[in-house]
Amino acid sequence: APVPRLEHHTLERIETVWFGIAVAMAVLLFASVLASFVSGTYPALKGEGGHHITGVENGRLDPRNLAATPFAKPGLRENPDGSLEAFVVARAFAFEPAVLRVPAGRPITFHVTSADVLHGYQVEGTNINATAMPGQVASFTTTFRQPGELDTICNEYCGVGHHNMITRVIVEA
Ligand code: CUA
Repeated sequence: APVPRLEHHTLERIETVWFGIAVAMAVLLFASVLASFVSGTYPALKGEGGHHITGVENGRLDPRNLAATPFAKPGLRENPDGSLEAFVVARAFAFEPAVLRVPAGRPITFHVTSADVLHGYQVEGTNINATAMPGQVASFTTTFRQPGELDTICNEYCGVGHHNMITRVIVEA
């Protein structure tokens, strides 16, 4: 039986429609990628605690020059407006500060970075699980509800001393 044939101009119209759909999908994809990029970087642009961090731009810094940033003195600091920020540096094979003391019941904005290779920063018994990357700052805000001592480990394999990267968060009443 003869194969039914579409008229030439019908084929062209179908091609035009499909081409239009393909273009629309490409535009939508690009727009959604752009939107997620903007929404993803927006908290970093704001500094996530509302404070600009010296030496940090768009969540990035120079890992060889932590001295020019608050990471030079890791630990908890209270801002003039009463907000709390904790700066944590991971390096092979330890965390700084060695022990982080924080108050219970107050929001604390953490900033975590690495001085050398990829590390993890996981506080057991909480949902804190950040990746410490050289050149980048992971920022998040959390509140410890009750006093106690929380083991803190590196959960990214980082070398021979990986298993020694254990520290502690002490939550004080
Ligand atoms: Cu640091 Cu594993």
